[in-house]
Amino acid sequence: MDYSDKIIRGATIENLADSDCVVDVSRLSSLYKNISANTIITGFVYISENGRAMHPFQAGIVNERQQDAWKKVVAEVKRHRPEIKLIMQLAHVGRQTIRKNAVGASTIKCTYFKNKVRALDENEIDEIINDFKEAASRAKNAGFDGVQIHAAHGYLIHQFLSPYTNTRKDKYAENSLFLKKILEKTNEIRDDNFKIWIKISHADDRGLTTDHAIHTLKQIDGLYDVVEVSYGTMEYPLNIIRGACPIDVIFRVNPLFNTNHPLINFFWKKNIFSIYKRKIKKFALNYNYDAVLEIKKMVNAEVFVTGGIRSFRDVKKIIESGIDGVCLCRPFICEPNLLCKENWRSKCTNCNLCTVHCDSKNHTKCYGKEKTK
Ligand SMILES: Cc1cc2nc3c(=O)[nH]c(=O)nc-3n(C[C@H](O)[C@H](O)[C@H](O)COP(=O)(O)O)c2cc1C
Repeated sequence: MDYSDKIIRGATIENLADSDCVVDVSRLSSLYKNISANTIITGFVYISENGRAMHPFQAGIVNERQQDAWKKVVAEVKRHRPEIKLIMQLAHVGRQTIRKNAVGASTIKCTYFKNKVRALDENEIDEIINDFKEAASRAKNAGFDGVQIHAAHGYLIHQFLSPYTNTRKDKYAENSLFLKKILEKTNEIRDDNFKIWIKISHADDRGLTTDHAIHTLKQIDGLYDVVEVSYGTMEYPLNIIRGACPIDVIFRVNPLFNTNHPLINFFWKKNIFSIYKRKIKKFALNYNYDAVLEIKKMVNAEVFVTGGIRSFRDVKKIIESGIDGVCLCRPFICEPNLLCKENWRSKCTNCNLCTVHCDSKNHTKCYGKEKTK
């Protein structure tokens, strides 16, 4: 068995939109055509203006022009590969942005972005629930086979799920309610040809645990088809993905650092970085696997796992242990044709130059290979 239908290209921001956040049809469709997975999840696409990420070339799905461009991408990719499944990842970043008017579940700031956060009121929450549904409808109109609601990595939904950021006193103090309402609304357009995926962090560095994740999944039982299990928030971005921390490249290209005076960055590197590094989790193969085994025992839906999956042998082990599928990100950035090889093993070294550059104005690609040329 080659497990090819169980190996997914996990969401990977491509930075291939223009300054109006309309995707570049030609570049994105040729990227997708070359990825050897049979299901591709897009990079995170914003569902409303105040849900945009800091990436200037993030794609949106909030207007006709954006929808039309996505429609052309889907048509072109499916013309070339009729069997492929395309899933659009939908996200609202909440407090994880460099914009001044950031909103969140509460006023608690993110230590990475440090900007002021305003807590959403119930009317605004209702609007965002509707924005998710509208975005999903647009994705459906564009020809996608489903959407993945991004409830992981510290973005807005995660901020409601987390006991650290959800300090609300209203009905949304029930951590899973916001996600549940988004799913209920989005289910209005769910059918056999339009699936609903979600992505959650099974734990983070601020108190969210696998027990919380299991509780959430039980609350939303029946409202989604597939859950992808990841880790962490942007408080410690490297703990989401693990691997190297190319600090000098971060200082050069990341907008949170590259406007600092060089002396500030020098001081940060010499003094704070060593403390920060102690909190960074080391890369390990299949680093979310133990948690996903626990989750799979407790939920009815299909459960997929992401994080450090680097060889066919490991995929086989994961699937044979009862997990429904795997999502790979950096291996496909490194080698889009990865699955064409028998018994493949990824050449990705987790140097994380792709990760660092994706926070800049550069498009996402493997910068590690250039370094070793
Ligand atoms: C360059 C880059 C871009 C990413 N973009 C997204 C994204 O848009 N949405 C998301 O949920 N995760 C994103 N991730 C996280 C991946 O989907 C994945 O969960 C994580 O990298 C672990 O998988 P891997 O070890 O196969 O890379 C990104 C990761 C990288 C390295």
